[in-house]
Amino acid sequence: MDTRKIVAVIGATGKQGGSVVRELSAHRDKYIVRGLTSDVASPHARELKEKLGIEMRTADLNAPESLQAAFDGAQIIYDMTDFWQSRSAETEFSQGKALMDVITGVPDLDHLIWASLPDGAKISEGRYSNIFHWQSKAAVTNYIRDSKPALWEKTTEILFPNYFENCLTSPSRYLPVKTDDGVFVRSFPLSAETLLPNVSIADTGRLVDHVIRRKSEFLTKTIAFYSEALSERDKADTIARVFGIPVEYRQLTPREFQHRLAQMDPTIALDYTEQLMMFEECGMIYSRPEFIQANQLPGLRLTTWGEFIASHDIISYMVSK
Ligand SMILES: NC(=O)c1ccc[n+]([C@@H]2O[C@H](COP(=O)([O-])OP(=O)(O)OC[C@H]3O[C@@H](n4cnc5c(N)ncnc54)[C@H](OP(=O)(O)O)[C@@H]3O)[C@@H](O)[C@H]2O)c1
Repeated sequence: MDTRKIVAVIGATGKQGGSVVRELSAHRDKYIVRGLTSDVASPHARELKEKLGIEMRTADLNAPESLQAAFDGAQIIYDMTDFWQSRSAETEFSQGKALMDVITGVPDLDHLIWASLPDGAKISEGRYSNIFHWQSKAAVTNYIRDSKPALWEKTTEILFPNYFENCLTSPSRYLPVKTDDGVFVRSFPLSAETLLPNVSIADTGRLVDHVIRRKSEFLTKTIAFYSEALSERDKADTIARVFGIPVEYRQLTPREFQHRLAQMDPTIALDYTEQLMMFEECGMIYSRPEFIQANQLPGLRLTTWGEFIASHDIISYMVSK
């Protein structure tokens, strides 16, 4: 008898889901991995199918009728929604809600792993209610908990932090920039002491495998997924140490920050500002006691910032002013 679990993964072509399918497909004795994508014919979907030897199936979050066949026979589902496709909390919430409505009817489901973000409005007691890409995911979590209690009993929620990998895709925004006098400067709106949660998103699969294997410890629980709580000055200091270069941290003045925001869509600028203020004003909220701390789970090894920058030769990504 085949005892392997069928795991369906939304976002398999992306960073979170890509890490999950890569990790789980390395354990073929345990899992039958099914990657989901809105376009099975895309080069990325075809590459996953060939390289990992996994099935790729269509699941379009904008077409809930496509989801039933995508989840057919699945015992474990990894779910994410992508705010940045629509940049609309309303759209992300309606995608997530429709997703949960379909998942409720998956007969063999025994574990749902839901990629989420904190309820900023609740944590800040109403001070920061405009972190739209958090609130839409938190609203989906509340929908499961309040309206789908049987599904909630099978759910593990994971709160994602800042990805270390953001500095590979947007180096000028996430890394120190070389100035004319040869010094690298990290300019950021927050005070040098403000801690933010960080992780290598490539570790998502390892966390998900850990959670699946110890399911009973994690049902109805929320995991704060970060390897380290670091300030941007801490990160700059580590870069200086690892690469032996001069790096300074400089907190942007309110005027300089406003100037940066002026280049953004106003709604996204508000979302971004409140997200940062949340950590400045409410502290390192991911370490709150109601969340399981991924970096304290025995047997789960998560990449540190020092390891990440050394293994990616981060200095080669750093740009000049
Ligand atoms: N970057 C960060 O630091 C950070 C931190 C915390 C949380 N997040 C959250 O992470 C989420 C993005 O995840 P990611 O980083 O893995 O994104 P990503 O690498 O950009 O990949 C996006 C994934 O979403 C899938 N997708 C998009 N629209 C879809 C649709 N209509 N139907 C089905 N699948 C769809 C894409 O699949 P196909 O294109 O193949 O369909 C792709 O696999 C966002 O909601 C963001 O808020 C990001």
